[in-house]
Amino acid sequence: MQHYLQFKDFSADEYAYLFARAALIKKKFKAYEKHHTLVDRTMAMIFEKASTRTRVSFEAGMYQLGGSVVHLTTGDSQLGRAEPIEDSAKVISRMTDLVMIRTFEQTKIERFAAHSRVPVINGLTNEFHPCQVLADIFTFIEHRGSIAGKIVAWVGDGNNMANTWLQAADLLGFTVHVSTPSGYEVKQSVAGPRSANSYRVFDDPLQACQGAHLVTTDVWTSMGYEAENEARRAAFASWCVDRAMMAAAASDALFMHCLPAHRGEEVEAEVIDGPQSVVWDEAENRMHAQKALMEYLLLGRQS
Ligand code: CP
Ligand code: NVA
Repeated sequence: MQHYLQFKDFSADEYAYLFARAALIKKKFKAYEKHHTLVDRTMAMIFEKASTRTRVSFEAGMYQLGGSVVHLTTGDSQLGRAEPIEDSAKVISRMTDLVMIRTFEQTKIERFAAHSRVPVINGLTNEFHPCQVLADIFTFIEHRGSIAGKIVAWVGDGNNMANTWLQAADLLGFTVHVSTPSGYEVKQSVAGPRSANSYRVFDDPLQACQGAHLVTTDVWTSMGYEAENEARRAAFASWCVDRAMMAAAASDALFMHCLPAHRGEEVEAEVIDGPQSVVWDEAENRMHAQKALMEYLLLGRQS
């Protein structure tokens, strides 16, 4: 049994399979062809933070595979009344086939997984967002082919998305140019790439975008850090992806954002709504990529 708690939980070979499988699943979805590989399977979805894309993509995706979902939040379950994570994991995993969790500390999902009888998927923690980067790289491949050898510019917070991009670069052979304000750097000890060769740090976000094949960013204040909002607004003022940054990137560079976005903060409206932006494909691809992921965790490789 495998869990998907961080991007580095899978090998490059497993990602090659998942990207190919997601492409097939998407093609069938577009042609209104049934793809019922998870009939009678049930997934529990536990949300301790808000969500639009993660909920809709997993829930719609599971129904499209022939399965069903149970949706739980902290407020409407015993999770919010201090039932131990270990007990919750034992109970929920006796009744379902798969569990997706969105929570705060990575240690919480690790504790759940350690006591779960079924595979656990990270639907976002403070430290990582592997399902998003899975969809992002699938989107890059759809538009531009292999990401190996390419440059991805990360402009903004050294957060869960940045950490996940670092792990992906390390595994899949591309380079991340990271530019964060001082005090918001990525920590290699958290991100956990095997080496520091897969990323370069830039003080100036414009320089980080130089020659990049993909420019990407995220909110200045992630969920759970709202108390820091004012300090972050001041610190991040120069980390807004604008037309000058896109002009410094490769001429065919793409722009991505995991969404939700704040136009005028981390990205200019002209960029996110401009011709290089693929954010809507990126959001849709969450569903196709995660259908491949759920199927893989429950059935293994399908020929
Ligand atoms: N990108 C993403 O995970 O969006 P939600 O917070 O809406 O799920
Ligand atoms: N970094 C953001 C991503 C939201 C999808 C957060 O954690 O809130």
